[in-house]
Amino acid sequence: MLFPDYRPRRLRQSENLRRMIRETQLSVNDLILPLFVIAGRDVKNPIPSMPGHFHLSIDHFLKTAQQAYDLGIPAVIIFGIPEKKDALGTEAYADNGIVQKATRALKEKLPDLVAITDVCLCQYTEHGHCGVVEGNIIDNDASLDLIARTALSHAKAGADMVAPSDMMDGRIGEIREILDENNLNQVPIMSYAAKYCSAYYGPFREAADSAPKFGDRRTYQMDPANALEAIREVTLDIEEGADIIMVKPALAYLDIICRVREEIDLPVAAYNVSGEFSMVKAAAKLGWIDGSKVMMETLTAIKRAGADLILTYFAIEAAQVLQS
Ligand code: PBG
Ligand code: ZN
Repeated sequence: MLFPDYRPRRLRQSENLRRMIRETQLSVNDLILPLFVIAGRDVKNPIPSMPGHFHLSIDHFLKTAQQAYDLGIPAVIIFGIPEKKDALGTEAYADNGIVQKATRALKEKLPDLVAITDVCLCQYTEHGHCGVVEGNIIDNDASLDLIARTALSHAKAGADMVAPSDMMDGRIGEIREILDENNLNQVPIMSYAAKYCSAYYGPFREAADSAPKFGDRRTYQMDPANALEAIREVTLDIEEGADIIMVKPALAYLDIICRVREEIDLPVAAYNVSGEFSMVKAAAKLGWIDGSKVMMETLTAIKRAGADLILTYFAIEAAQVLQS
């Protein structure tokens, strides 16, 4: 049927009609809130490039988690800012590391909120790489044990889900094995499976103090030009035992989310990363865009592309909009 018989505008005439035929429904159920935890008490230091986000000591971290919980957000993902760094990132897998402490406190206060932990070494190593450095090389196999130990210590602290973001080959299998050996076979792994080497991580690296001190992450994170390789990465992680697979970043990689969604039957998560957040905030502050509308449009686009879950610094604001 063609114009003038068919008129697409017929079904756009009122908000109720539009609601009836809307194909994508963003829901609070889809949102995961990233939080940055730091040592100390009563610390709430703003992260300048990420308005509304802070380095939170555990007391404030719990308050923000409560706010998320009260809004119906099902999960938070915890990033730690350790007190000290060393060559092997020992604070990442210390029983009393910052993420371990925060996880225990969170599970005590809000047992129903899903506590996801980011598993990586880059915030904890002096050199800022996501694995062990030998000379100028990021040593894949030497990193696996430390990454697996980090995941194990998070799970022992009560993490409901672990999310390895390092991009070393073989880490999902290693983590699944160590969790299973320790009676933690019910702890799911959300794998940062297709994680690109992206300049959109800039604000996060400032926030987490995790920028590499030499070189870059191109030998382990994916080349932004590659799409088929994302399918291989995702497939490998599933074979090794991933329960949820992630594409990161989200907005410049909607095609990857879409392809992964078509090929894979596991839940797909997408990470709406720091740079994507900061660009919206900056343009909104300049009065160049309507920040709230661009936020909702962005999150809807990520969902429409095929993401079931969205990790986003907008989680609280978006939940507020969805509630209103
Ligand atoms: C590193 C890590 C990164 C992010 C989370 N964990 C990126 C990186 O530094 O390579 C990015 C998150 C963001 O930009 O919001 N393991
Ligand atoms: Zn890392």
